[in-house]
Amino acid sequence: MNIVVLTGAGISAESGISTFRAADGLWEKHRIEDVASPEGFLRDPSLVHDFYNRRRAQLHLVAPNPAHLALAALERAWQGRGNFLLLTQNVDDLHERAGSRVLLHMHGELRKLVCASCGETCHWLDDAGVETLCPACGAAAMRPDIVWFGEIPYYMDEIVAALDEADVFCAIGTSGVVYPAAGFAAEARRNGRNCLLYEINPTPTGGHVFDHVIAAPASQGVPEFLRRLGVEEAA
Ligand code: OAD
Repeated sequence: MNIVVLTGAGISAESGISTFRAADGLWEKHRIEDVASPEGFLRDPSLVHDFYNRRRAQLHLVAPNPAHLALAALERAWQGRGNFLLLTQNVDDLHERAGSRVLLHMHGELRKLVCASCGETCHWLDDAGVETLCPACGAAAMRPDIVWFGEIPYYMDEIVAALDEADVFCAIGTSGVVYPAAGFAAEARRNGRNCLLYEINPTPTGGHVFDHVIAAPASQGVPEFLRRLGVEEAA
């Protein structure tokens, strides 16, 4: 039995990272289009770098919560029982710090930069700015390695292939308004395997597509999901 899990900002909410749509389209007091679009970066690259520098620095202050840990336990428990893939729209690193290994960051990662000149990505733990030089080509053309609005998410081929093989799909802590991720449940439904669709969200999105809705915060909902799969969390 193959499992695909999709996470959104809600899974990190209980770790203290604010979600995107909690405050009228503002993200930490900025308009989303100013800090999460290529146009915003062209207009004011320093502001955008500063914004992601603060988000990157915040990673030192937060830790994985029981939902991240439960998904890492599920991945371990599932070895030998089928495929398991964790897709996240989040740019934090809480899944990997919880122990998840089969993980795709479809919207990029805070702890990476990408060079607009040569296209190379590099790991980056400190502040970055317009003067930061690309370790590969030397150009002062680094930007956060984040997929912004209007850009194509990473790993779409792998994701579509996994959805095509999924027997269980679970969306956790995502508002389901940003495509293509918002269409993954429907895509899995169409794969001809009678894929079971779960949603975990304290404020369910109301998408009638889901077979099972666990209306709870992720820290409680994910352990419940594991119980329904017959998985012991300590695995
Ligand atoms: P949103 O901020 O749109 O949605 C967060 C969801 O988490 C909402 O449905 C909440 O009800 C739910 N939620 C809140 N607390 C929760 C908790 N404790 N446990 C479980 N769920 C909880 O975030 P995303 O759906 O992730 O894109 O946003 C999708 C994308 O839009 C992001 O990846 C980002 C953003 O703009 C890019 O940056 C390209």
